[in-house]
Amino acid sequence: MKRYELRCIACGHVSPFSLRRIFCERCGDLLEVRVEASEVFNREKLLGRVNSMWRYVELLPDFRRPVTMGEGMTRLVRCERLADALGVRELYVKLEGMNPTGSFKDRGISVGVTVALEAGARRVICASTGNTSASLAAYAARAGIECVVLIPKGRIASGKLFQARLFGATICEVSGSFDDALRIVLGRAEEMGAYVLNSVNPWRLEGQKTTAFEIWEQLDGSLGINVVVPVGNAGNISAIWKGFEELRDYGLTDEVPRMIGVQSSGAAPLARMFAKGADSPEWVESPQTVASAIRIGRPINWKRAVRTVRSSGGSIYSVDDHEILEAMRLMATTEGIAAEPAGAAPIALLKSGVESGLLPRDETYVCIATGHHLKDPDPAHVSWNVPVPFEQYLERVTGRS
Ligand code: F0G
Repeated sequence: MKRYELRCIACGHVSPFSLRRIFCERCGDLLEVRVEASEVFNREKLLGRVNSMWRYVELLPDFRRPVTMGEGMTRLVRCERLADALGVRELYVKLEGMNPTGSFKDRGISVGVTVALEAGARRVICASTGNTSASLAAYAARAGIECVVLIPKGRIASGKLFQARLFGATICEVSGSFDDALRIVLGRAEEMGAYVLNSVNPWRLEGQKTTAFEIWEQLDGSLGINVVVPVGNAGNISAIWKGFEELRDYGLTDEVPRMIGVQSSGAAPLARMFAKGADSPEWVESPQTVASAIRIGRPINWKRAVRTVRSSGGSIYSVDDHEILEAMRLMATTEGIAAEPAGAAPIALLKSGVESGLLPRDETYVCIATGHHLKDPDPAHVSWNVPVPFEQYLERVTGRS
């Protein structure tokens, strides 16, 4: 048995329960799902369960049969060569690109579309820098409902746009940034009769918290670690922290990780806020970065993210674009593991953070590689390696001309 409550993240007020509610009835801030479960999983109970995030069903909203494609249970890969190259004691990379549409979004969208059906929705909508639109398009197709996505015109990676088109979403281009697209979605969804599935939707974060459950299971419960997460709208880092908190609250762990966020320096309102020791962020009006997934200037979940890093003893930092591209190269060439630029940002932070003494070497790091490298196959990202004529190569290795 489960009991759900929708509690405001700012004033703590509990709003009347509705699967369609996004904002607090009292102060208008965002809501968090609080789940009270009479029974919870443990490591023995999990043996033999479905190999997807739905194995953690006791803490997931299974109001009806889930809309699922086997999302979650992505590989947590130990990276010794990369750890040596970075100079850290122990490093794992969680390959979220292994999800059905190639990003962590599938976790939240699987739950989100399931809840949307239960709420009676026939049309779902989101604003997106690319991955949410690809994921929502696919899960809406599987559920047999209509999907509308708003994207910043000309600013999303080719693989993601291809996916949204392929899965049959209606794609509306908006001039401006992701932040402008999200503002339109929040302002217009109701009159369109559309169910909003951006990370303002509290149910989406319930899916994304499963990343924490998996890390706990995959590391045999040893959570004295640092978890490094790229931050855009700041939903994912907060969702993962919620998962760790639930593990602690249900007595499944005593220790919880330190949560470290990373933004790109051209889109870093939260990193700047922490660097200055300010209480609230200054928005970035025209965010710029090669990591288009996190090209966001007004992270709507910023309050959740601040609470996350403060309660876990972490922080949010920034890295430059050239460091992100170098991290992609390093991951790929030392481990054969790759990610789209946003997904490589945690490795970039680890490199610069360890070099500058910001991050301790003698610890364990789990970096969340949030999206698949083929999402954004821009030749400019691999300008360090260009094809050569075979004869030229032969000359080089044989020394003959
Ligand atoms: N990494 C990737 C690959 C993403 O696509 C996103 C967000 C993030 C990290 C940041 O996650 O927003 O929860 O802090 N992409 C969204 C989208 C905004 O529309 O696909 P966040």
